[in-house]
Amino acid sequence: MAENTRGSWGSKIGLILAMAGNAVGLGNFWRFPYQAASNGGGAFMLPYFAALIILGLPLMLSEWNLGRYGGKYGHGTLGPMVYLQAREGAKPKTALILGAIAGGLAFAVTLLVNSYYNHLIGWTLGFAVSSFTGAYMDQSQSTADFFVGYIQDPKMVFTFWIIALLGLSFAVMRGVEKGIEAWAKLMMPVLYVFGIVLAIRSLTIGSPVNPEWSSLKGLNFIWNPDFSTLTWRSALAAAGQIFFTLSIGMGIICNYASYLKPDDDVVVSSIATISLNEFAEIVLGGSIVIPIAYAFLGPDGIGAGVGLSFIALPNVFRTMAGGQFFGGLWFLLLFFAGFTSAIAMYNYLTALVEEDLGIPRKTAAWIIFVAYIIVGLPVGLEQIINKTADLAYFTEIDNWVGSYLLLVLGLIEIIVVAYL
Ligand code: ALA
Repeated sequence: MAENTRGSWGSKIGLILAMAGNAVGLGNFWRFPYQAASNGGGAFMLPYFAALIILGLPLMLSEWNLGRYGGKYGHGTLGPMVYLQAREGAKPKTALILGAIAGGLAFAVTLLVNSYYNHLIGWTLGFAVSSFTGAYMDQSQSTADFFVGYIQDPKMVFTFWIIALLGLSFAVMRGVEKGIEAWAKLMMPVLYVFGIVLAIRSLTIGSPVNPEWSSLKGLNFIWNPDFSTLTWRSALAAAGQIFFTLSIGMGIICNYASYLKPDDDVVVSSIATISLNEFAEIVLGGSIVIPIAYAFLGPDGIGAGVGLSFIALPNVFRTMAGGQFFGGLWFLLLFFAGFTSAIAMYNYLTALVEEDLGIPRKTAAWIIFVAYIIVGLPVGLEQIINKTADLAYFTEIDNWVGSYLLLVLGLIEIIVVAYL
């Protein structure tokens, strides 16, 4: 596609907020707390920071660079970008192979992530509504049972999933400035305000249930480095979390950077993206979920894994003053975070169809809509048909993506940008 027909960012602040929206997602507020809690807390944070400095920073910069470079030639997806960049230092055949591997992996990873990510977004919307209406406030039913009832109820699961998917497709159809940038400018500031309100509430809640359990002790769990529980598994999980949370190794940062102008800055902007993301993840994500869950449920309560946000926290909201309101804020925050990241993934796949197959953006977006329904159906139906609640397939995909696939793709990018 010719360069002048591609969209571009309307303003610098819009670009930074869109990139922050891309990176700040469910990874920061839903994934990070449960990964940190189930990988030893303080033991997880050591490899986490190492991976942030050694892998996160250079790769973020590389992806901005690669994206701006690809955009110059009218490409917004990883395959052609890696091919073009690799051709400068390698034989055309090697460049072609690298491009094909990177492009194929990015396509597969993005589609895989969206098989469950969009369901999560649907759940957050459904739970926001349930919070404001007080649906899980009834103490006679446990919040675990409420959650199981929710994910096994086709009406709830499919209604909110489809609403989320339609919202995403309309945003992407509107294009870079009027769709992606406009939503980020609205949702990101609201997300930070909600996050700050919730973090303050969480850290000032004291010890409402047991004098031994205070939210500050929960904070200590993350910030007290404990080398004795450090394992290869937790190190790998921490590195994977860095990739997931920064959206690197997926091609979606490159895609947003492809809408830059050739002489736009990438260094300051990529550092701004990382800073906004880490503020949301460590300061806000870290101060909300684990401390508040610890204060109400004790050390055992924070080991709830995937269910930490959807089971443990509603338990907290139903006992705390103003819980309906704070619960609503929490799930809306999750929704905004997930939505602005999912737009980036949706736009990546739409750009792939649009640019590589020459199909108009609107049609391309509908094709991705159908693809999302196909890959997302097994995830949504697993619980409904099997009447299970272990989310086995869902968790398996998340582990594969977060712990392996993103790392492989990131390494290919490093090789291409650094050596070729
Ligand atoms: N970076 C996005 C997230 O954290 C994908 O959810």
